[in-house]
Amino acid sequence: MSIPALNILAALGVGGAILWLYLSPTRVSLHLPPGPKPLPILGNIRDFMSLEQLWVLATRWRDQFGDVCYLTVLGQGIVFLNNAEAVTTLLEKRGAIYSDRPYLVMTNELIDAGKLIIFEGYNEKFRRQRKLMQHTLGPRSIPAYHPMMRTETASFIRDLVKDPGEYMDHTRKYAGGLMLSVLYGYKATHNGDEFLRLARECMAFLANEVTSGSGVWPVDIFPVLKYLPAWMPGGGFQRKAAYWKKTMRRLADEPFQHSKTLFDQGVQTVSFCGDALQGGIDAEEDDIKWTASSMYIGSSETTISTVSHFLLAIISYPAVLAKLQLEIDTVVGRNRLPDFEDRPNLPYIEAVLSETWRWGVPAPINLPHRVVEDDVYDGMHIRKGSLVLANIWAILRDESIFSDASEFRPERFLEEKDPQILEKMEPRKYIFGFGRRACPGADLVESSIWLLLVTMVATLDLFKPLDDNGDVIEPDIDYGSNAKFRIPSRFKFDVRFRTSQAATLMESGQ
Ligand code: HEM
Repeated sequence: MSIPALNILAALGVGGAILWLYLSPTRVSLHLPPGPKPLPILGNIRDFMSLEQLWVLATRWRDQFGDVCYLTVLGQGIVFLNNAEAVTTLLEKRGAIYSDRPYLVMTNELIDAGKLIIFEGYNEKFRRQRKLMQHTLGPRSIPAYHPMMRTETASFIRDLVKDPGEYMDHTRKYAGGLMLSVLYGYKATHNGDEFLRLARECMAFLANEVTSGSGVWPVDIFPVLKYLPAWMPGGGFQRKAAYWKKTMRRLADEPFQHSKTLFDQGVQTVSFCGDALQGGIDAEEDDIKWTASSMYIGSSETTISTVSHFLLAIISYPAVLAKLQLEIDTVVGRNRLPDFEDRPNLPYIEAVLSETWRWGVPAPINLPHRVVEDDVYDGMHIRKGSLVLANIWAILRDESIFSDASEFRPERFLEEKDPQILEKMEPRKYIFGFGRRACPGADLVESSIWLLLVTMVATLDLFKPLDDNGDVIEPDIDYGSNAKFRIPSRFKFDVRFRTSQAATLMESGQ
C-alpha cells in the first residue's frame, strides 16, 4: 500500500483493531449509503490509494455516488457527508450520538494523547474540558485579550517586513505567542522561545507521525503489540511513543509551571491559568493543564492556513488589496491604526475575511466524529461505530451557491441575495466543524485574525516579486499530502510599509 493511502487512513483514525466489525452479522445491509465497491476484508483500501488529497477524493465519490457515501477499511465504516443538509442533521441535530472520536492504541494509550480534548471520546472528561474552554474562549472573554492581539499583530508585521520569505514561521510565532499570553500570561519574545519550540515539536509529531505521516501503526491493527518491550526487535515504536508522551507532558507542565511561578510572586495576569490559580475557575489541576495544552495545540496550523491563503489572495488579486486600502483610508484614515470599534464600518474587509475562509478552507474535512448508535438518514443505515466526515471543501465550492467557486471574489458576500442563500453561504457555519465538537477557538480567531488582516492591509503593500529579468514570479502552489490541513506550499512575495507613518506606528508596537 502506498504511503499517501496510509497517511489518509491514519489521519482519519482508522486502525484495524475493529476487524470484528466486518465479520459481525450487521455488515450486510442493503441500506448502507452507496460508495465504491469494497474488497473482502480489506474493504476500500485501494480507493484511498491516491496521491490526491482526501477532500478531492471524497468529492469524486460524491459525483459518482451521491451526497452521502460509505466506504470501509478493515471493517471500519467511514461515512462522507458532502452537503450542508446531511451535516446539519447528523453532526448537529443528532449530536448526542455523533460526537465521539475514534480510539487508537498508539494515540490514546501509548502516547496518552487522549488527554488532549481533540482525541478525547465523548465522555465526562470531554464535557469538563469543553466547559473550561467556554470560560476562556467564549465571546464575553475575548475583549480582555485585545491588548495581546494588538501586541502580537505589531510583532508579526515587523517580522514580515524584515523577512517575508519566512512568513510561515512568523505566523506560527504569532499564533503560538498569542495563545501563550491568553493561556499562561507568558510573553514569547523570539521564534526560538522554548515553549514555542515545544508546541511546534508536538504539533509536528502529532500531525505528521502519530496520526499521519508514518501511516497506520501496526499496534493499532494488533493491539497485543502494546505489550512488546521496547528492546525487542520491532519495539522501536515503543521508544518513539515514550519520547512523544514525555514531550507532550512537558508541553502541559512547563508553561503551567510558569503561571504558577507568576502567581507565587504575586503577579496577576489576564490568562486562563492565572485565573484558575487565583480561584476564578473551579477545576482540578490536571484538567486545567491539559485543557490549556489542547487550546495551545489547536491554534497553529489553522492560523497558518488562513494567513497563507490571505497573502496568496492579495498578491494574486491586486484589485482586492487596492479596494481594501481605499476602504480603510476612507473610514479610518492614515493617522491611526484600525481597531475593533471600526469593524462595523469596514464591510469589504468583512467580505474578504469570509472569502478567505471559504476559498482557503483551513481544515477541509472535519476531525472524525464517531457515531455510537445505529442510525438512519434519508432511508440509509448509518452503522454504529462508523467515522463520520464532512467534506467542508465540497460544501464551500458548491457552484449552485458559489458561482466561479475557485475564484477569490469577496464581492459575492456583498451582493443582494435572498437571506436564506446568504445564510447558506456563511463559511463560519462549516469551517469550524460541527455540533458538540465545533471548534472552541472560533470566537478568538474571529477577532484575532480580523485584526491581523486589517492591520496588514492598512500598513503594508504586498505584491508578487520580480525575477532578475524583471518578469513577475507567479506563485507555484501545491497542497502536498497533508490529510488534515489545507496549507499552500511556500510562495514568494514582496512587502513594504505603505507610508513612513505606518512604519512608525508598527515600530512603536501600538
Ligand atoms: C481559522 C482558525 C481555525 C479553524 C478553521 C479551526 C477549525 C477546527 C475544526 C474543523 C475542528 C474540528 C471540529 C469537528 O470535529 O467537528 C476544530 C477543533 C478544535 N479546535 Fe479549532 N480551528 C481554528 C482555530 C482554533 C484556535 C485558535 C483554537 C484554540 C484557541 C482551536 C482549538 C480547537 C480545539 C481544542 C479543537 C478540538 C475540539 C474537540 O475535539 O471537541 N482552534 N477546529
